[in-house]
Amino acid sequence: MESILRIYKHKSYEEYLAAQTKKNVRKLSRRWIWGKDIRAITKHAKANIPSIDFGICHGVRNGLEVHEFRKHLETNIIGTEISHTATQFENVIQLDFHNIKSEWVDNVDFIYSNSFDHSSNPEYCVDQWMKCLKKDGICYIHWSKDHNIRRLDAADCFAATRDEYQALFNQKYHVVDEIEVKRVKRNRTYKRVVFAIKHGS
Ligand SMILES: C[S@@+](CC[C@H](N)C(=O)[O-])C[C@H]1O[C@@H](n2cnc3c(N)ncnc32)[C@H](O)[C@@H]1O
Repeated sequence: MESILRIYKHKSYEEYLAAQTKKNVRKLSRRWIWGKDIRAITKHAKANIPSIDFGICHGVRNGLEVHEFRKHLETNIIGTEISHTATQFENVIQLDFHNIKSEWVDNVDFIYSNSFDHSSNPEYCVDQWMKCLKKDGICYIHWSKDHNIRRLDAADCFAATRDEYQALFNQKYHVVDEIEVKRVKRNRTYKRVVFAIKHGS
């Protein structure tokens, strides 16, 4: 079936890599994830994953969520980052998250990403991440309005609504929860949702 997802068509892999790297370098000190997000995901993971021995966060920029999840989940978590800046940060490896390592297959309890909108091939990407997940593991993928921007470019290359994310994950896997997180800043309320995705029984 032909995909109906909104995806920017890169001319080459070099264009994709250069765009991601340029944006990463420009925003290197920024953080997207909130403390509230980390606390909500930690609480859910502790209550719903039987044992967390190894986790991966994908597209981590300066590795903040890696550091936070290692602390709160008290386990071995690493991060992937496509940009060469990865080497500056502890427990972060330079890797395109579409290219999973063979030793990760069926071996990961916890996966988290808020960078799914940077995937050049979301259907393939979610399959790769889910391949790594153990039977009882959970893959957490963040969605907010930031993930449904109107104008795509070579860096922010995939946009979809909350319902489209849900439908994509439910095609082959199960969204077992949608964790909603709200934050009020300067009288405005911002809402985000984290999809908790598992393998079927
Ligand atoms: C929105 S930022 C991440 C923000 C960070 N997770 C946070 O919460 O502050 C997206 C990051 O994903 C990285 N990225 C983009 N495509 C990637 C890929 N294919 N593999 C690994 N990292 C990628 C970008 O370089 C960028 O640092």
